[in-house]
Amino acid sequence: MRLKPGLRYCVAAFLAAKAAVLAPQAHTETLDERLFSPRTGDQLSCADCHAEAKVIQGGKVGMGNRRADPLAISALIDAVSEEHIFSAADPLDRDGDNISGRVSWVLSLTDQRQVPGRFGWKASVGTLEDQIANALITDMGLENALLTFSTATCSADEPGCVVAVASPVDAKEESALAILAAEVRHLLTPQAKPDPGGVRLFTDTGCAACHQPYMRGTEGRGLLLFTDLLLHDMGQELAENRTVGTATQSEWRTASLLGFSQKAGLLHDGRAETIAQAVEAHGGEAQDSVTRFLALSETQMLELLAFLRGL
Ligand code: HEC
Ligand code: HEC
Repeated sequence: MRLKPGLRYCVAAFLAAKAAVLAPQAHTETLDERLFSPRTGDQLSCADCHAEAKVIQGGKVGMGNRRADPLAISALIDAVSEEHIFSAADPLDRDGDNISGRVSWVLSLTDQRQVPGRFGWKASVGTLEDQIANALITDMGLENALLTFSTATCSADEPGCVVAVASPVDAKEESALAILAAEVRHLLTPQAKPDPGGVRLFTDTGCAACHQPYMRGTEGRGLLLFTDLLLHDMGQELAENRTVGTATQSEWRTASLLGFSQKAGLLHDGRAETIAQAVEAHGGEAQDSVTRFLALSETQMLELLAFLRGL
C-alpha cells in the first residue's frame, strides 16, 4: 500500500487531515493490529470507526452522515449467496404487499462484472474486497491494489476523485487486501437460534417483509441477518438531497438488526436513539408495518423490543 501523496487529491476531505498524516511507522505494524487495535490521534484503524459503530460526518464535501456497523455483520453479509439476493427482490411488487425491494446493480472492481450491491447503506458496493479498497482509500488515505488517487484524470479541486487501478499491481499490495478481507471473514461465528415467538410477532408486524430473519449463505446454510440486502423506498423523512450509485434519495438498503448493544445511534446517520424512534422514522414502503407497530398492545410492544434487543 502506498500513502496518499498529499492533500491535493482529497477523497474524503472530512477525513483527509487525519489520513494525510498517517505516520510511516504505521506501515510496520501488522495488518491485524490495524484492524483490531482502536487507536487515537491521527492514525485511523478500521476499529476506530467500526468497533464503536461511529457516525462519520459528511461535512462540507456534501456527503451524508453515515454510521459504521460492527464488522461481524459485514462477515455475514459477505457470506450471503447472490441467488438469494435476486430471489428476494420484487421490484414491480408482483405479490401486491406494497413492498418492492430491488437489487442495486454495481460493477465489482474485484470481479470486473455486474454484481448485486450488498455493502454500504445504499448497497453501492458489491464485494468485501471492493468495500475494503474503498475504506482504505477514502477513510484511511491509503492507495491499494484496486483504487488509487489519480493524478492524470482528477483536477486539483475535485474531492472524491479516485480511480480504479488499470495496470497490474505488485503482489504485496494485492495481499494487503486479501489479508484484511480474511480478517473480516474470520469474524463469522456460529449463531444462536432466535426465539420463535419473537420471530412470529416480528413477522406479524410486517417487519420481516424487509428484515428477513434468514438469508441463504453460499454454502447453503441459513445466516441470521434480519435484512434482504435490497433497496427500499423509505419515504421523505429518511431521504437525503443526493443520490448514491443507482439508489434514489429515499432508497436505502435494509439495515441488519443484529448487535443493537454495539450500535451507538440507529439508522444510516445515527439519528435515532431507540428502536421505536428508528421505526417511527420509517415511511414509504414500510408505512403499513409502522402502522401495525404503533397498534401493538403494550405487552406485545415490550415483547418485540426485548426480542430485538436480544439479537
Ligand atoms: C473513518 C471511519 C472508518 C474507517 C477508518 C473504516 N471504515 Fe468501514 N465504514 C465506515 C462507514 C461510515 C461505513 C458506512 C459507509 C456507507 O454505507 O456509506 C463503512 C462501511 C464498511 C463496510 C460495509 C458495512 C455494511 O454493512 O455494508 C465494511 C465491510 C467496512 N466498512 C470495512 C472496513 C475495513 C476492513 C476498514 C479498515 C481497513 C474500515 N472499514 C475502515 C467508516 C470507516
Ligand atoms: C420496506 C422495508 C422495511 C420494513 C417493512 C421495515 N424496515 Fe426497518 N429498515 C428498513 C431500512 C431500509 C432501514 C435503513 C433505513 C436508514 O437507515 O435510513 C431500516 C432500519 C431499521 C432499524 C435501524 C437499524 C440500525 O441498525 O440502524 C430498525 C431498528 C428497524 N429498521 C426496525 C424495523 C421494525 C421493528 C420493523 C417492523 C415494525 C421494520 N423495521 C420494518 C426497511 C424496512
